[in-house]
Amino acid sequence: MKLLPLDTPEILELAAHWLAQKENHQWLDFGNGRQLVTPTLLKIMAQRPTHFMRVYTSNRDDVPVGICGLNSVNLDFKSATLWGAAGDKLFRNRGLGTLAASKVLTLGFRDLGLQTINTWVVEGNPSLRLIQRLDFHFIGRQRRCHFIDGQAHDRLLFDLLASEHKDVEGDRPPRGQISLQASVRGNHEEDRGHDPESENGPVHRRKTATAETGKGREA
Ligand SMILES: CC(C)(COP(=O)(O)OP(=O)(O)OC[C@H]1O[C@@H](n2cnc3c(N)ncnc32)[C@H](O)[C@@H]1OP(=O)(O)O)[C@@H](O)C(=O)NCCC(=O)NCCS
Repeated sequence: MKLLPLDTPEILELAAHWLAQKENHQWLDFGNGRQLVTPTLLKIMAQRPTHFMRVYTSNRDDVPVGICGLNSVNLDFKSATLWGAAGDKLFRNRGLGTLAASKVLTLGFRDLGLQTINTWVVEGNPSLRLIQRLDFHFIGRQRRCHFIDGQAHDRLLFDLLASEHKDVEGDRPPRGQISLQASVRGNHEEDRGHDPESENGPVHRRKTATAETGKGREA
């Protein structure tokens, strides 16, 4: 897989086209609820030190298939917020999004010198599994702050320290159901049989997962 900078009009157009799709932008927020970005705005973002974005290719050729980035890059506080979106649906669920995110995390920690990278996932977004496989730690829940089709949803907040990041190096991390409760417990324990959004999970874990309230952040 290659990571390419957003430095040509073609790549900027393509990435903006992916982000214009509701199935992608409904889960995102580029600040103050902005979900749609034009190629021009993407170009401006790509030139700002507060953003680090890369388009990723498939493993077979150099055709771009998705985008992954860090927003709110703060070199003083050594922190940033991870986000991503796949382009062509044909290339989804092959581990490419996980691999790209892992590589972007490596660049963020190693080359930008970040100490912590956070992210959030709207409750109900299946990409929660990707975040859990990357060893992100569940740190809280921001309630009823994200709207899709007029419906309020919670955001689940996660973070990862530089010392906790392991580059997945092209190996697809193990599949299988990983529950939010498992994340709360310690990220690596798989809680088979419990759906992340299930209300039937053990009460004490459920309580831990829902009692938290986080502060807003961009992703
Ligand atoms: C998140 C995203 C980039 C992942 O891309 P990808 O190449 O499919 O990622 P991977 O193949 O590495 O892993 C996807 C994992 O998430 C799950 N997943 C993510 N999106 C899914 C979807 N729309 N439908 C079903 N499963 C999905 C898959 O089941 C898979 O988990 P598994 O391997 O345990 O089964 C892509 O799903 C996407 O663009 N989603 C919309 C935007 C978004 O939600 N971004 C994340 C918010 S920061």
